[in-house]
Amino acid sequence: METKGRFNIWTSGCQMNDHDSEIMQALLEKEGYQWTPDPETADIVILNTCSVRKTAEQRALGFLGNMKHQKTKNPELIIAVGGCMAHNPEIREFLVKKASFVNIIFGTRNFHKLPDYLEETMESKQRVIADKIEEAPGLLPAHRENPVKGYVTIMYGCNNFCSYCIVPYTRGREKSRLPEDIIEEVTRLAANGYREITLLGQNVNSYGKDLSRQVNFAGLLERLDEIPGLFRIRYMTSHPRDFTEELIETIAASHKVCEHFHLPIQSGSNKILELMNRGYTREKFIRLTERIREKVPQASITTDIIIGFPAETEDDFQDTLDVLKQVKFNAAFTFLYSPRQGTPAEKMQEQISQDIKKERMARLVDVQNKITLEHNLPLENQVVEVLVEGKSKKNPERWSGRTRTNKIVDFEGIDDQDLTGKLVNVLITCARTWNLVGMSV
Ligand code: SAH
Ligand code: SF4
Ligand code: F3S
Repeated sequence: METKGRFNIWTSGCQMNDHDSEIMQALLEKEGYQWTPDPETADIVILNTCSVRKTAEQRALGFLGNMKHQKTKNPELIIAVGGCMAHNPEIREFLVKKASFVNIIFGTRNFHKLPDYLEETMESKQRVIADKIEEAPGLLPAHRENPVKGYVTIMYGCNNFCSYCIVPYTRGREKSRLPEDIIEEVTRLAANGYREITLLGQNVNSYGKDLSRQVNFAGLLERLDEIPGLFRIRYMTSHPRDFTEELIETIAASHKVCEHFHLPIQSGSNKILELMNRGYTREKFIRLTERIREKVPQASITTDIIIGFPAETEDDFQDTLDVLKQVKFNAAFTFLYSPRQGTPAEKMQEQISQDIKKERMARLVDVQNKITLEHNLPLENQVVEVLVEGKSKKNPERWSGRTRTNKIVDFEGIDDQDLTGKLVNVLITCARTWNLVGMSV
């Protein structure tokens, strides 16, 4: 078939963006466009951007600059910018008013209309600036590179308005997909050999609240748990505020939902948590982790932490270190607070200097790395169940996969058998902070 043009998608940000790009790729391939891994030789370059921190925006603007340069050599090049940055007012204004070399500006709630926008700009030779917020789409195809695990979006948007966060502005209000669409998509994935799915939403605990029928996240998990062929179900992200007893019990009773709880605490100081509008206290959060460990003793609990939120004193930071030591998270993802335009926290007095943020980050990472290793060391000489994702990227002699608790395991197979997509028992011979090494038994 003759190609309509070669396209490349540059993606940054969270799993939601990764998956939106997989969908755009599949939709464009269906329309007769051809994927190229190299933006330099593409006829169409799409940027699926992230706005969560300034560094993410700078990376995208850097790539956009390269593409502008590319367009001086190839004036026919079509450039489309979507994702969260396209909804950041300051950047949108720049794209609309100053970046005339950008042919299409779209967003996070109309990305599946990209083939229409492309056609429109190619026919009319005019720019397309799409700002319509669309309803949650039904079933969409996706080009998934990984043959073992796949993402499935269950809801779009976020209603939480944490005071530091731009996501509710860039992703719009919460909108759940219909349970039957999700079940059908997961059933098809399982029938096609996928063994693990990750359900995506900015706050999966709110799933179903906007639907007219009685369905919530726990109910959806129960139904997905029954799908034959699937080994594992993961989800992200869940908000600690509304992680219900019902949900803990559902997960404890399920066969496939993994014993991994990612619960972003953000800060251990009640003063900062209130300023962040998180809706829980450190005490409530700690109690939640205790309840989880009572019901799911082998649970791994991970978290996100923002360092240097406005007005964070050394005492507040000590409260955060203290919670780390008390809860003993399996891992913590740490971020320097980045002021986001239009959010309440950006206007708060007492912004913290970059030097203090970095210095606190270093101390926190030090504390957490020791705790992570402490969790991993007892796994030496134990046998763990690994879902194999493929050959290890670092060492092609080894296989790589994850435990149900989401720890990465690199291991030696026994013979030349292809283990991709298989559940393998692995004896751990060496536990490190970021991975486990072992051999299949
Ligand atoms: N919906 C998810 C978070 C998405 S953003 C949730 O609520 O958990 C992922 C992480 O980025 C957040 O958990 C937070 O730790 C971090 N983050 C969000 N906004 C930030 C900002 N302005 N500066 C620094 N980190 C931020
Ligand atoms: Fe942002 Fe809070 Fe929504 Fe997560 S829950 S996306 S941190 S506003
Ligand atoms: Fe970034 Fe948007 Fe995801 S801001 S983290 S791509 S929701």
